[in-house]
Amino acid sequence: MPVRVVVGCQWGDEGKGKIIDLLCALSRIGVVARFQGGANAGHTVVVKSEKYILHLIPSGILHPNVQCYIGNGVVIEPDKLLYEIDLLESKNFQVRNRLAISTNAHVIMPYHIILDKSKESNPNLFIGTTGRGIGPAYVDKVDRIGIRMMDLQSPDLLREKLALNLKLKASHLKRKKVNLDKILQDYLAYGERLQPCLRDVSRLINEDITAGKNILLEGAQGTLLDVDFGTYPYVTSSSPIAGGACTGLGIGPTKIDDVIGVFKAYTTRVGEGPFPTEFLSYFYTERVREWGKEFGATTGRPRRCGWFDGVLARFAARINGLTEMAITKLDVLDRLATVQICTGYHVDGDCCRDLPTDLAIIRDCQPVYEELPGWQQNTTNIREFDKLPKQAQIYLRRIEELVDVPLRLVSVGSERDQTIWCK
Ligand code: IMP
Repeated sequence: MPVRVVVGCQWGDEGKGKIIDLLCALSRIGVVARFQGGANAGHTVVVKSEKYILHLIPSGILHPNVQCYIGNGVVIEPDKLLYEIDLLESKNFQVRNRLAISTNAHVIMPYHIILDKSKESNPNLFIGTTGRGIGPAYVDKVDRIGIRMMDLQSPDLLREKLALNLKLKASHLKRKKVNLDKILQDYLAYGERLQPCLRDVSRLINEDITAGKNILLEGAQGTLLDVDFGTYPYVTSSSPIAGGACTGLGIGPTKIDDVIGVFKAYTTRVGEGPFPTEFLSYFYTERVREWGKEFGATTGRPRRCGWFDGVLARFAARINGLTEMAITKLDVLDRLATVQICTGYHVDGDCCRDLPTDLAIIRDCQPVYEELPGWQQNTTNIREFDKLPKQAQIYLRRIEELVDVPLRLVSVGSERDQTIWCK
């Protein structure tokens, strides 16, 4: 039974939630495991017209036979996680008996959120983060002063670690009200409620692999937000690429069979940073944003929108070792008279087909476009590739050719059945 990673291949918001949900519905998935990020993610799943936005719990939770794991690579905001659990349980989903949280996962503390927001208020340091404390929590992890889920079970240790953190951060937190006793009390209470779900997730998932279960490893954000390979410093602080699944869950690379890359049929980005194919015209931005409902699932911010970028896509295929690709939101382009695909970047008079490593070059390059006729037809009710309008087929096949990875699935709407499987 395969172990498959599902990764975002642009700047996040590609529709990974729907793909995970769909695979769970169709292919007897036993486990879905999240490996990085935190409540900065917002995975939207629509089932029978009801919309669920999951920030921390893996998208498989809507399927009663699926076990859901949160790996050591995730940074957890415990109150948000508890809120999500309660909300799902109030809608009659059983969560606690199917959720395992790594004892080693780091905890987002109130001061991480304060530090994130205060850094963002400095115009020289502004990244456009989600303000959920993600960066500061990963900084503490790497600095070896972080607080882990297991620490919420030990009052004395937690007090000691909190005192150390507040002392070290005192100069940054100076005017903010941070009360050690209040944090201690709140977090011990969260720890008590979450204790039944704490597990050695690495051991669990390796046992599941040995038992031959069908497993999905769920990435959040996207390849171009990767802290090493994204458009640094305009990135998140974790590793959303396929390699992150190994370190974020404690499994070896030899255990992974497939890597499914999820792309939107166009490109979006939230926050600051270069975006070569961003629409120059307000006309396209407004329409695609409205048709694609391109507003952040976590922050509600309007997303920046642009054409499909083949340079980024090829890079994502390489860095993740994609074995197949899914393209989502094709229907958003249904009404356009023409569509464009970026096939290269003009840099100093040369045409470059690989993503430059230098941010300044990515920022200043001129995208080279191929213009194709649009299909100007509603695709939301189509379920077979051959029934798509010819121009839509040509558009998808051209993308597949550029990325050089087999196209397996096209999504034409948010519902599960609005999906086309490709041969
Ligand atoms: P952070 O992850 O909150 O630190 O934000 C860093 C960058 O990643 C910002 O540009 C965010 O807008 C972006 N980002 C973080 N999470 C997501 C996501 O789930 N979708 C899209 N962009 C995200």
